[in-house]
Amino acid sequence: MSPAVNSPHVVNIEDLRRIAQQRVPKAVFDYLDGGAEAELTLLENCRAFREVIFRPRSAIAIGECTVSTRVLGHELSIPAMLAPVGYSRLMHPGGEVAAARAAGEAGTGYILSTISGHKLEDVKAGSKGPVWYQLYLLGGREAAEGALDRARRAGFSALVITVDTPVAGFRERDPRNGMTELLGTSVFAKIPYLPDLLAHPGWLASFLFDGGVPRLENVVTPGKGAMELVDIAAALADAVVTWEDLRWIREVWPGPIVVKGLLTGDDARRAVDEGAAAVVVSNHGGRQLDSVSATLRALPEVVAAVNGQVEVLMDGGVRRGSDIVKALCLGARAVLIGRAYAYGLAAAGQAGVARALQILRIDVERTLRLLGCPSVAALDRSYIGVPRSWCVP
Ligand SMILES: Cc1cc2nc3c(=O)[nH]c(=O)nc-3n(C[C@H](O)[C@H](O)[C@H](O)COP(=O)(O)O)c2cc1C
Repeated sequence: MSPAVNSPHVVNIEDLRRIAQQRVPKAVFDYLDGGAEAELTLLENCRAFREVIFRPRSAIAIGECTVSTRVLGHELSIPAMLAPVGYSRLMHPGGEVAAARAAGEAGTGYILSTISGHKLEDVKAGSKGPVWYQLYLLGGREAAEGALDRARRAGFSALVITVDTPVAGFRERDPRNGMTELLGTSVFAKIPYLPDLLAHPGWLASFLFDGGVPRLENVVTPGKGAMELVDIAAALADAVVTWEDLRWIREVWPGPIVVKGLLTGDDARRAVDEGAAAVVVSNHGGRQLDSVSATLRALPEVVAAVNGQVEVLMDGGVRRGSDIVKALCLGARAVLIGRAYAYGLAAAGQAGVARALQILRIDVERTLRLLGCPSVAALDRSYIGVPRSWCVP
């Protein structure tokens, strides 16, 4: 493990965030750290966890404490998987391969975004754990069918369909930092933004050595090859996924389908009716529609609506093991973590992701012991208190 992330001073995810902020250019850090518009939902996701209090059971000795769980039949060492994070290869050349490898080493799963710079076959081969593929309809159905066929043959065990991205959310930090210009081909357009890159020579050297802006290796349009990264915002605008598309996807993907990006009981029931094996309560980490509910607050409605028919996962704002425990108390089978591991990736590649997972795992076990609860499977509403203003069914 790299010394910086292994230092005794790195005790929580916020410490990894600080190291990431120093290592990568502001444009890359803000892309990772920021949210849509006024960033209200981004803040709310984290704030909601603070509003939930624990109700521990005291004077209980716990011998063995079980933090492992099962998600879609996979045994996971902790109730947290790595969420799909686009452009990971900009954060560190190891990108998606490094993150998947760290997840596998830690005994958990990784979800590969369509917006990925490494070939999906290499990502799967790099990990000992389960790997799922997250689909955007970038490049249309033909490109998607090609990717799904490759994913199936490579051994991806589930497909995640993200349904909260009819267009890309407006992340105001990105245009200010010149993200489009920096990813584009015009050297002239990059000039105003070069001081930011030059101020991070370590990152810049590794980025250039890695070949510069990567192509989207898993969005291959016949006759055109791998899509260029810069096309994304425009391509996403044409890539809305509808319930009708889900029916078509079920025909071309034989394995389990996970619908990610739901915030209401109605949409969750619809996903169940359309054949989803699991749903993810998610607002894309506050990066899409701003002012939607914090996901922790939306979780109980979805759990009640699906009534045990499918597994419910959630993401958004998870920065501590205690956050994971709170989500499980409210009915999630497991959480996905996005920024919590991406900060580690940007800080130190695979070693940083490993450190993030280690921090969260230790946190979860300590929290269970302090709560007087022997296993994550035994967590329920009785271990927490939620504010009266929350509508918890
Ligand atoms: C930098 C970044 C890129 C993301 N890219 C994708 C993506 O390509 N596909 C997707 O479904 N979700 C994407 N997400 C959303 C995450 O999968 C997840 O829902 C979110 O990060 C959870 O919130 P958290 O970061 O607070 O944990 C991205 C999130 C971040 C931070």
